[in-house]
Amino acid sequence: MKSIIIIFCIYISIAQALDNGLAKTPPMGWMSWERFRCITDCDKYPDECISERLIMEMADIMVKDGYLDAGYEYVNIDDCWSELEREDGKIVADKKRFPRGIKFLSDYVHSKGLKFGTYLDYGTKTCAGYPGSLEYLETDAQSLADWNVDFIKMDGCNVDTEKMVDGYIEFGRLMNATGRPIVYSCSWPAYFEFYRKPTMIPDYEVLKKTCNLWRNWKDIEDSYESMLFTADYFAEHADRVSPHAGPGHWNDPDTLLLGNFGLTYEQSKAQLAIWAIIASPFLLSTDLRTITPEIKELLLNREIIAIDQDPLGIQGKQLKKGYGIEVWVRPVLPRIGNEYSYAVAFVSRRTDGHGYAFPYTLADLELKNKNGYIVKDLFNLKRSTFEMQENDMTEERVNPTGANFYKFTPIENNREL
Ligand SMILES: *[C@@H]1O[C@H](CO)[C@@H](O)[C@H](O)[C@H]1NC(C)=O
Repeated sequence: MKSIIIIFCIYISIAQALDNGLAKTPPMGWMSWERFRCITDCDKYPDECISERLIMEMADIMVKDGYLDAGYEYVNIDDCWSELEREDGKIVADKKRFPRGIKFLSDYVHSKGLKFGTYLDYGTKTCAGYPGSLEYLETDAQSLADWNVDFIKMDGCNVDTEKMVDGYIEFGRLMNATGRPIVYSCSWPAYFEFYRKPTMIPDYEVLKKTCNLWRNWKDIEDSYESMLFTADYFAEHADRVSPHAGPGHWNDPDTLLLGNFGLTYEQSKAQLAIWAIIASPFLLSTDLRTITPEIKELLLNREIIAIDQDPLGIQGKQLKKGYGIEVWVRPVLPRIGNEYSYAVAFVSRRTDGHGYAFPYTLADLELKNKNGYIVKDLFNLKRSTFEMQENDMTEERVNPTGANFYKFTPIENNREL
């Protein structure tokens, strides 16, 4: 009887999620906003302006430097790509910055084996003042299909929050009706939970049914403080928010800052580890032409990408914190007997100079496999893996504002037989 109930519940939860076959793991790729914002003066800033050249150069590098091979497949333009006025009711790309139009760019990105994404806003205007999709939902959904778009971020500036939920559902229906499968990134929870005053809690069951991913919280900015502000949201609201993540439908804490100006190397490790634990989309927003080898190595770390992309799709959480050290955990594959493997990040908010020594046992991590675990260091693959048993005390030295990141895999029961 119990198993019938469980099967029934699983059936219901599948039936209630968006079923476009996309984003079975958190989307990976590149997105313009955090780093390039709304730079539109190509005479003054030719290397940075939102333009066909920028997108093509990023696409080229994603292939040439191994990002695509590692799983980063979407190339997404954010706001500020269109003309300020529609033509014959349609949004058109800025003629100076995208002289060959969006379909050309989409074809170019696809020719590289990548996928192409762009941006709209469910309001009268986008956040930066470009044409919004209110009153034009059907036209704009058809434009996306005509351009072979694979990913759409639908933002939520300049519209009544009351209208949002129905509008986003309607736009999803219209995209579906075009027959083009498009990853649907929704923004209404960010407006409900952060930007709107007074704030509101969105219905996450509706989100799951409507969108492949959704921004929950404030736009991330290029600083350690901004990164922590987002991490804190996911720590504090884990019970309410995390259970809604899963294959096809993800919480989105916003882009990775790695490679930009605001995070040190240690802080870059902290963002990467936390974002992997919370099953975040891995969307880079950086200038891949100038990234340092150290940061590139972090972003291409296959073991960490595998944690983020774990097929179970269970969003992890902050398990505990104390002495300025946070412990974040996420169940992942392989599952041995009844025990999951776990990704475990030790994240330091301390600033007292040296690596703080933090002692722990398996019980402190709530890891229960009787035969212990093989522990693999994900940031320093050269350090040998080690074994940890029930009564072992391990000391973790975490650099100030940095993170250490491990995978704990249960040791099988019959190993000694
Ligand atoms: C449209 O929705 C149906 C029903 O949920 C789904 O099976 C189909 O894959 C969707 N098509 C596209 C193109 O998203």
